[in-house]
Amino acid sequence: MSAVLVAVASVKGSPGVTTLCLALAACWPEPARAIVVEADPSGGDIAMRFGLAQSPGLLSLAAAARGGVAPHGRGTEDARLLWRHAQTLSGNLPVVASPPDAARARGALAVLAAPDLTGGLGLGPLLAAAAHPGAVLVADCGRVDPGSPPVMPLLRSADVMVLLTGAHADELAHLARRIPEIGAWSRNPVLLLAGAGHSIAAVARELGVAPLARVPFDPRGAAVLSGRRSVLRWHHSGPGRSLLGQCAREIADLLAPRAPVPPAGRRPKRAGRRATARRDDGPNDPNMAGRAS
Ligand SMILES: Nc1ncnc2c1ncn2[C@@H]1O[C@H](COP(=O)(O)OP(=O)(O)OP(=O)(O)O)[C@@H](O)[C@H]1O
Ligand SMILES: [Mg+2]
Repeated sequence: MSAVLVAVASVKGSPGVTTLCLALAACWPEPARAIVVEADPSGGDIAMRFGLAQSPGLLSLAAAARGGVAPHGRGTEDARLLWRHAQTLSGNLPVVASPPDAARARGALAVLAAPDLTGGLGLGPLLAAAAHPGAVLVADCGRVDPGSPPVMPLLRSADVMVLLTGAHADELAHLARRIPEIGAWSRNPVLLLAGAGHSIAAVARELGVAPLARVPFDPRGAAVLSGRRSVLRWHHSGPGRSLLGQCAREIADLLAPRAPVPPAGRRPKRAGRRATARRDDGPNDPNMAGRAS
């Protein structure tokens, strides 16, 4: 099947981007194999939260990439490079974790997501994985601002850019001012609301953009996805069981068809299922979801 690059970002606050990335990857429709890459220029959280080793991860991937992956490389070898630098969370979820230190994270991203494809590696290893049949790369791009150059190439290259925002008036007011700019970042932007606040219909009216869904406030579900429950609990109350996980599954089902269509006869198992994500009310034309009007 075709591969998918899903870039997830916020523009203000901490609405739950990292948590959502893990949930989406854990729930992405089969037969895709999802991998999370922590591409947050502010530094990563996953390694600390889940007690992962320092290496392998984003730093080792960048070091290996510096060591000679072909520019523009989209071959099998490049794809293997990315998977080799992943660690596996409970539930068999591979993640390429970033160091918590922002400077080191930015240094690695500058190698892996360099916009200059002629002088450097460009998006070599990352795009290679996204071009690998059956792979879904969920990139946690963190809080994006004009000073986040390392992740802009990722957003621009993504099949889908998911922007997660809180739905309270102050958060939406901030977003409203930036909608035209943000809409230009991606060919396929999607807006998701996080937690309580204004309804989808109200946001669509105010911003001129119809959110695709609302990610529920679910501290228990988020705790599992933030490494605050035991490995055992991942299975008992993890992504498959929690409200947050169920919603992520439904959002993944909505996002999957927006990415390149798999060859006939090999459609993702749940892609055709009627989605029931918490689109709480109001208009939700999928062709308009997340697009600046
Ligand atoms: N849907 C949710 N319901 C309840 N709590 C959540 C939810 N999503 C995330 N959280 C909690 O909120 C906190 C921040 O989440 P997370 O790290 O995913 O946010 P973020 O947007 O990635 O933040 P940052 O921009 O700082 O990286 C964590 O403690 C997490 O457990
Ligand atoms: Mg984060």
